[in-house]
Amino acid sequence: MTKTGSNTMWGGRFAAGPDAIMEAINASIGFDKRLARQDIEGSRAHAAMLAATGILRDSDAEAIREGLLTVLSEIEGGSFAFSTALEDIHMNVEARLKEIVGEPAGRLHTARSRNDQVATDFRLWVREQTDAAIAGLESLQRALLAQANAGADWIMPGFTHLQTAQPVTWGHHMMAYVEMFGRDASRFRDARARMNECPLGAAALAGTSFPIDREMTAQALGFDRPCANSLDAVSDRDFALEFLSAATITAMHLSRLAEELVIWTSAQFRFVTLSDRFSTGSSIMPQKKNPDAAELIRAKIGRILGANVALLTVMKGLPLAYSKDMQEDKEQVFDAADSLMLALAAMDGMVRDMEANVPVLEAAAASGFSTATDLADWLVRELDMPFRDAHHVTGTLVAMAEARGCDLPDLTLEDMTGVEPRITGAVYDVLGVHNSVASRMSYGGTAPDQVRAQVARWEERLG
Ligand code: ARG
Repeated sequence: MTKTGSNTMWGGRFAAGPDAIMEAINASIGFDKRLARQDIEGSRAHAAMLAATGILRDSDAEAIREGLLTVLSEIEGGSFAFSTALEDIHMNVEARLKEIVGEPAGRLHTARSRNDQVATDFRLWVREQTDAAIAGLESLQRALLAQANAGADWIMPGFTHLQTAQPVTWGHHMMAYVEMFGRDASRFRDARARMNECPLGAAALAGTSFPIDREMTAQALGFDRPCANSLDAVSDRDFALEFLSAATITAMHLSRLAEELVIWTSAQFRFVTLSDRFSTGSSIMPQKKNPDAAELIRAKIGRILGANVALLTVMKGLPLAYSKDMQEDKEQVFDAADSLMLALAAMDGMVRDMEANVPVLEAAAASGFSTATDLADWLVRELDMPFRDAHHVTGTLVAMAEARGCDLPDLTLEDMTGVEPRITGAVYDVLGVHNSVASRMSYGGTAPDQVRAQVARWEERLG
């Protein structure tokens, strides 16, 4: 019997309903409705297990399982009336199930609690997002591979301190991000393997006296095994934290590529042109084509890292097992996951469409004495000079070129022999940017052949 005004799910010992403020702070339905599908999947698996173990009559379990599908179609069709008084998604679904199937609905909550229920729902949700992150990363890697393949021998300046350092290839630069995003995907895979244990059946905190079959529900929900400790099962959210940590590192990598695109598309660089589909105009300056998507991707790490810090802070110092603090786990993770997926998709589109300005890239690579290291290496190799001496001779020649306002290949042989008499005309071979990159054949180096080998390796890996 339910008393007027008290909660229909737990109001047995209550004489009056909650204050409106109490209801407002307590309710999570405003956001945890996003767990509806996972909640219903979990309940259907639980009901099937209760029937298989003889805890529930088959007919009741069938009514429950069918009724839950009706609830799901109402939610997905938008006709479901969510109620704040019913607090959260778990009780909203169960109350509606009661209206649809009657008495058997009240038997669904046998041998479980909202504590293992929400832990299960949330794990299922985070697991799906983990898979989506991996898929998004792999798609972005493919976009970068296509760029690397097209431009394995396009020359561009490589930078340190954002100062021209040595010529590299466009393909090599793209492949650097393929490596980073590959590690990001592997972090999500590692997290997935650890999170893939099923909390369902841990009940409130101590397990249950009913003869449940936790292997069965774990298997039905695609988990590798049930969580081995019921206290741990209901009270940890480290799986969400691992997701957020991996997301934060991914967002950091995305922000670096985004920043490069912002720099590269500027009028001062003109290294890259973004497609109209992935740029925006200015409402006042007609000439502008802005890299807004890149800027927004660069910014997304703010909320993703924020979510990571927020959830860690919520979890810190909580005694075992469940505490209501943990209801604050969801919104941050939802927002971080949405931000990550959007950022990955936008970067994917930008990278696929962008066009490298090959002549500008090569001209930039040839300026700024970018082959000075090649000259020093030549002195070491051909004249058996100690590298430190070669560095000094090259520095003198760079200063000479700088004073004349020309580049290294523009110096005459007489200029060179004036500094080091043993230099011969053969030195000019290494001063060109094409020879420079082609010579960097060390494993992982920028030579076009090395880049093509790495592209092939990744294409095979990604299948
Ligand atoms: N809405 C709750 C949450 O998100 C569900 C678990 C509630 N459990 C409880 N004992 N009050 O955490």
